[in-house]
Amino acid sequence: MHKIRKVGILGVGHVGAHCAYSLAIQGIVDELVLVDLRADRVKSECQDLRDAVMYMPHNVTVNVGTYADLGDCDVLVNSLGDISLVATGDRNHEMRYTVAQLKATMPKVMASGFTGVIITITNPCDTIANLVYKLSGLPKGRVFGTGTGLDTSRLVSALAQQTGIDHQAISAYMIGEHGDCQIAAWSCVSFGGVPLSALEGKDERFSFDKEELQKTAINAGWVTYHGKQCTEYGICSTLARMVRAVLHDEKRIMPASMLLDGEYGEHDVFVGVPCVIGKNGAEEVIELPLTAEEKVKFHECCENVRKHIKDSESIEAAK
Ligand code: LAC
Repeated sequence: MHKIRKVGILGVGHVGAHCAYSLAIQGIVDELVLVDLRADRVKSECQDLRDAVMYMPHNVTVNVGTYADLGDCDVLVNSLGDISLVATGDRNHEMRYTVAQLKATMPKVMASGFTGVIITITNPCDTIANLVYKLSGLPKGRVFGTGTGLDTSRLVSALAQQTGIDHQAISAYMIGEHGDCQIAAWSCVSFGGVPLSALEGKDERFSFDKEELQKTAINAGWVTYHGKQCTEYGICSTLARMVRAVLHDEKRIMPASMLLDGEYGEHDVFVGVPCVIGKNGAEEVIELPLTAEEKVKFHECCENVRKHIKDSESIEAAK
């Protein structure tokens, strides 16, 4: 009996809808369950997805569901949020809404009997990943966030544009907060296995202002947001790649927002780090050989996220 790959989408706004489409059009899922309290919106997204199935790689069953329908999903995507709240330019300003909503919603989700993997996108991503992990009661690793998986895509895009080298040949990571204090682990960037440090100074393509390129990558999300008041393609592609790694137990190494339990000398904080992604979620944290300077910046980033996690604790569940 073929295993049906079933994914639930909690929150079907711009991001959730694009995640659903990306998972379907890439042939990653067999069944999608869309959960959103806005009945007209979720019915609309469901119909629109169904209208595309004929041209997809294979049949995908798409339904509007309730929290109870999430129980037998392999993966649950959390994209519940209000993207208008980050118009301030700070993802943490969405917290007052997203924390309240998830404190009210997660118990209903878990009452479905869900025992799969939760990949959470909702901002502020690292703070929310911590909250969803705590509320879910799932084992460590079975809840992780897209985190700097998206930011890494933006960094690699900027490096590809700067050097002319194909994205797939570039190994680079943004680590830390899915926010302003993230850092590029420059000491670990390589092109086809050749470290950047061996190339800069010898070839002008690789002799660029690292601070400026890092700023370009961090700012990319705001460039997108400025023109359409949301971001869609980068985040849904990041999410889809993570879901694929879970469903196929790929043991793929990808940056994700994951609980640190001693790695990098950090505890009790979710931040973006390279992880081994497989059927049990973020199964292992990979410790990059950071320089002393990078370690200091990474620790500052972890402290920043801890502060936001602390701030979130006083927010009450939505009624
Ligand atoms: C972004 C949102 C997902 O950076 O935080 O595009």
